[in-house]
Amino acid sequence: MCGIVGYIGSKDSSSIVLSGLKRLEYRGYDSYGFCFIDKGKASIFKRVGKIDNTEKEFLENNFKGNVCLAHDRWATTGLVTEENAHPHSDCKNEVFIVHNGIVENYKELKEKLIKEGHNFKSETDTEVIAHLIEKYYIGKLEDAVKNALKDVRGTYGLVVISTREPDKMVVARMSSPLIIGVGEEEFLVASDPSAIINMTRQIINLDDGEIAVLKKDSIKIYKEEKESQKNIETIDWDIEQAEKGGYEHFMLKEIMEEPITIEDAMRGRLLEEEGLVKLGGLDSVEKDLRKINNLFLIGCGTAHYACRVGKYMLEEYADIPTEVDVGSEFRYRKASIKNNSASIFISQSGETADTLSCLRENKEKGILTLGITNVVGSSQSRETDAGIYTRSGPEIAVASTKAFLGQLTILSLITVYLGRQRNMSVVMGKRIVSELKKIPALAQKILDNKEEIKKIAEKYKDYKNFWFIGRKYNYPIALEGALKLKEVSYVHAEGVAGGELKHGPLALVDENFPTIAICPSDSVYEKMISNIEEIKARKGKVIAIATEGNEEIKKIADDVIYIPKTLEMLTPLISVIPLHLFAYYFSNILERDIDKPKNLAKSVTVE
Ligand code: M6R
Repeated sequence: MCGIVGYIGSKDSSSIVLSGLKRLEYRGYDSYGFCFIDKGKASIFKRVGKIDNTEKEFLENNFKGNVCLAHDRWATTGLVTEENAHPHSDCKNEVFIVHNGIVENYKELKEKLIKEGHNFKSETDTEVIAHLIEKYYIGKLEDAVKNALKDVRGTYGLVVISTREPDKMVVARMSSPLIIGVGEEEFLVASDPSAIINMTRQIINLDDGEIAVLKKDSIKIYKEEKESQKNIETIDWDIEQAEKGGYEHFMLKEIMEEPITIEDAMRGRLLEEEGLVKLGGLDSVEKDLRKINNLFLIGCGTAHYACRVGKYMLEEYADIPTEVDVGSEFRYRKASIKNNSASIFISQSGETADTLSCLRENKEKGILTLGITNVVGSSQSRETDAGIYTRSGPEIAVASTKAFLGQLTILSLITVYLGRQRNMSVVMGKRIVSELKKIPALAQKILDNKEEIKKIAEKYKDYKNFWFIGRKYNYPIALEGALKLKEVSYVHAEGVAGGELKHGPLALVDENFPTIAICPSDSVYEKMISNIEEIKARKGKVIAIATEGNEEIKKIADDVIYIPKTLEMLTPLISVIPLHLFAYYFSNILERDIDKPKNLAKSVTVE
């Protein structure tokens, strides 16, 4: 979950890697560091905290070099200190590395290396790789890296440079993303394309087990001693998409992109006349999917809540029994896997370790694995048997917003796809497809009302606890609303099924503990009204998310946010939008670090 950027070429690398690293800060941001090699001499700069705090000092150093690597760290092994920040080096300060991932056997390797006379400067697992390279560095740097990695058990996205061969950079990947950007007589390396997209859109995706040797005018990629021939791919989104586009925060920008996200996810996939959905990514498994009689939906955090919405959709409309798990728990239970089971993994990044480990386990068990992923070329998208991209574009804020809408849209599409393979009528297929087409406009209508939601956030800014309640399709939305609020505002919020209030949570309700009740006019509306009355009877304040035209609700709720009418199954695609806006405005009023909440990282690549 840390960020890597590197450069080799004729230009002065300092500004290139600095701007790249700043764009990667969402991947990890407790400390950072650079290593420049200029005329065979290395210069290192490391600091704790965000780049902005020490950028002036960095610039005053006027670092030069045609070879450079840099790293944003989100601590896993070792405290947040300058010593533990990357790059790490060997005893002689000749070899410098940055690394994403985990060296599982670092303790035994470290012990052995210490016995062999190596001196360690940090507590990190990464540093052992630098010393292993030193140990094996007899001839070429790439051979030393290859040999060192033979001793390593774990995951890595690794970039290595050395003062002994200052015109070379060695890059290696194992289960941690790394791409190589191809420029004119220059190469860039990054853990994420957004770091280098201002320099080049031509990229090579490194695969697991590959090692690349870069010089400013040549690239060679090897896998198990053999040279690999790789295609250069073109990134089709540009730098503006990865920047804030005039909004104060990425989170708000990304919420404002929710309508287009829904539209992009559906684009070219709806066959309205036939009431069908076309999903090219599932073509290769279309026949297998006809036989599926139980499904597992697995994801973490917000993606997990998308899974929970998916369960209601798939069970009600596709008639497939569906089980839902968080990635970190699935392996601990004896899931009833049948001959015709399939699992769908949902992840924005496609790099979430908890989700990936379930995917790998399910593959070993021979279950058909499908992915709903945003990041093209991510581990999840490569390792699943088939899958669908959400096409949500880069999501930079740590809080996931538009990607959730992309996931819900794809789940609606899969529901129609699988439903029509089974008993769903053409009429029902057409109905869902035609309602889906209207959703982007309905979502936009809610965003157009954002000032009203801002006012409500302002009104409730001093409260320290919130309940979020919902039922059926909107129960997972209550969970998502609570997660979003606590994640970005640091205020206590809990999501609970409306019917569960009376089984305990009601004890906490009073005038200081408001509730956000998601109560559109649907099949569970009456039951939700009973829950709201239970809260009002205990002097609790209620903000209702209700369907336009429902005037009655104003009589019991303290505040009402209206959402347009749609099919019950599709309500989550619009009912969540006011909750995303509420979390954003509430946190902004409290002056929180909205895009980079404390203690969190965008992509959680450790279990
Ligand atoms: O990249 P993923 O969708 O797999 O990420 C899963 C969660 O880590 C993520 O949704 C997290 O819960 C968000 N920060 C929530 O806003």
